[in-house]
Amino acid sequence: MEKTLKIASRKAVEKLKPYSPGKPIWEVQRELGISHVIKLASNENPLGPSPKAVEAISSSLGELHRYPDAQAYTLKQALADAYRFAPEEIIVGNGADELITLISETFLEAGDEIIVPSPSFSEYEFGADLMGAVTVPVPLGDGYGYSVEALLAAVTPKTKAVYICSPNNPTGTYMTKSQLQKLLEALPEHILVIFDSAYTHFVTEEDYTDGFEFIRQGYPVIVLQTFSKIYGLAGIRVGFAIGKSSLIDHILRVKEPFNVNSLAQTAAVVALSDTEHVERSRSVNAAGREQLYEGLHKLHLQYTKSMANFVLIHLGQDAKAVYDGLMAKGIIVRYAGIWGMPEYIRVSVGNNGENEAFLKALEELLA
Ligand SMILES: Cc1ncc(COP(=O)(O)O)c(C=O)c1O
Repeated sequence: MEKTLKIASRKAVEKLKPYSPGKPIWEVQRELGISHVIKLASNENPLGPSPKAVEAISSSLGELHRYPDAQAYTLKQALADAYRFAPEEIIVGNGADELITLISETFLEAGDEIIVPSPSFSEYEFGADLMGAVTVPVPLGDGYGYSVEALLAAVTPKTKAVYICSPNNPTGTYMTKSQLQKLLEALPEHILVIFDSAYTHFVTEEDYTDGFEFIRQGYPVIVLQTFSKIYGLAGIRVGFAIGKSSLIDHILRVKEPFNVNSLAQTAAVVALSDTEHVERSRSVNAAGREQLYEGLHKLHLQYTKSMANFVLIHLGQDAKAVYDGLMAKGIIVRYAGIWGMPEYIRVSVGNNGENEAFLKALEELLA
């Protein structure tokens, strides 16, 4: 008979909810027995990775017996030059996800509160749960816009951090520069603001801020970004955070020495300077967003105008059935029920052909 083990995990770990990722292409291929599957579920770059980054990875494979640079010296220097910060103000991570965990481990004590817009990216709550901290969700306002008043009203003596995701996943809405200014001016000085601008490169509105200027002005802000979206490097896992060195220094104490592998460091440095790939990705996304809007308009569907590389679509009570129907046709999108929005799906902006296939399948399902 198998022995029952009596090892208890930390209480906080028992509460952790598993992350629910977009279904991978291979899984749908296996389940449906079809080879052509379109994935519009994880806000990936439809153009693929920067070709220059792929080339750089290929030529560095012979060095895989070496440990990666624990300081990520070259990548931090490249980021420092690109964004005009000092290397000491930068930390790189195994994706922005790791940085969210590291920030949580560095700053949150059990019982602390974090304020998180709702709906938003689930990893903020994960980080809080991991530390036994409490997530205070603040619903977004009309049209899923930010309300600074609502965020401020959620502040209590236990508030340790506020997350702002801009553009916000899964709504695509953003916080304007003047809203962020107002929030930072009003928040008590001991509250950390984590400004997640993973989708910053896709923004086309003038009154947006990527948050960097507020770090320069001395506010307690950490800006998060990723190489998974515009740079097309989601599979290799690399992201970065920028903030005043006194904040970054503490996070560095928590990170594992070799958290970002050598291929990721090499790829990120090259992708950062591949402006051609970045520009092409940006324009394909802007055109794709318009293509989706136009198609959705023809289908008389409501959507939220997005500053990111995905669009939130209102389908009413049929949303789950439409999601399942799209899946059966080999098109993977995200059902927004997982974010408490049972009447919505979120579709990533694909290339022209992918968007067209999605709109056609949607039309067939709604007919
Ligand atoms: C808002 C937001 N932040 C962070 C991440 C995580 O990025 P990474 O792939 O670098 O872990 C994502 C990924 O989807 C995201 O949507």
